[in-house]
Amino acid sequence: MLAFTRVTKRGLMMERIVIVGSGHLAQALWEGWDRSRIESFVSIVARSVNHRHLWQSPIWEQRVTFDPAAVGEADVIVLAVKPKDLDETWYAIAPYVRPRSLIISPVAGWSLSRIRSLGVNNPLVRIMPNVCAAVGASTTLACFSDVSAPDVSLVMSLFSMLGTVTVVKESVMDPYTALLGSGPAYIFLLLEALIASGEQLGADYGRTRQLVSEMVEGAARLARDRSNDPLSEWISKVASPGGTTEALLDILRQGGWPSMIQDAVVKASERAQQLGKAR
Ligand SMILES: NC(=O)c1ccc[n+]([C@@H]2O[C@H](COP(=O)([O-])OP(=O)(O)OC[C@H]3O[C@@H](n4cnc5c(N)ncnc54)[C@H](OP(=O)(O)O)[C@@H]3O)[C@@H](O)[C@H]2O)c1
Repeated sequence: MLAFTRVTKRGLMMERIVIVGSGHLAQALWEGWDRSRIESFVSIVARSVNHRHLWQSPIWEQRVTFDPAAVGEADVIVLAVKPKDLDETWYAIAPYVRPRSLIISPVAGWSLSRIRSLGVNNPLVRIMPNVCAAVGASTTLACFSDVSAPDVSLVMSLFSMLGTVTVVKESVMDPYTALLGSGPAYIFLLLEALIASGEQLGADYGRTRQLVSEMVEGAARLARDRSNDPLSEWISKVASPGGTTEALLDILRQGGWPSMIQDAVVKASERAQQLGKAR
């Protein structure tokens, strides 16, 4: 992890951030920054009203434009578009981008060198956040290309507002895209299954959702904070021989659950690599 200095509130006030794209990630970044009372002015360049439903009306009316020239005002430009749209998006905004504006790409699979090959000569950051940014709990990874120390600090400050941020080598970006960028989706799937089983056993949806979410958060905190303890030890602390947990774990292991998760993450990492190469 890189040491960094937080930029002052006064420094941040001078930044203007433009998010290009108005979809799910753009909305999560917006919500996270808004919630942490960011002092930078954040606006959005949309292509259509397709994702209008994600946004509250006042935000859409005050902060969203369809004019790509709006990036000309930006100190920081976040390219929150799908991998298949990145090249066309860059060509649409490139005439207006100022030479020193910081470009941030969360686009899965697109390497720094491939983004550069579009003709991006600006300071460039590749990040991998996740939708938990909306509540300030994203696990964001970042790697940098031709970025000055103050701009590195700025990126660290901006994404620290949305959770944790860790600087990594670019070689781990695709595996971590599968683990961390996609990660919330399979945790939500697990939660959905747990809640459904609670309902099947007669518990009500709202209370079960609250309680199992807290349980998952607690287990995650224990795994993180007691990082010297093998997880297998924690499993055996919960699963006494012949008890309820053992009955549950037997079914999951017989069904191949752990290896299924590994296979899924490997597949998702391969998909990230394909997305980075495909037109
Ligand atoms: N969602 C996540 O959890 C997540 C996590 C980490 C990284 N990412 C990355 O973030 C990127 C965006 O993902 P997403 O889930 O937010 O996708 P999304 O919901 O489909 O949103 C993509 C947005 O990009 C817009 N767009 C495309 N071309 C544009 C252009 N030329 N000008 C302005 N807007 C344009 C789309 O416009 P329309 O509204 O017209 O379709 C849409 O609003 C992807 O590259 C993904 O790999 C996503």
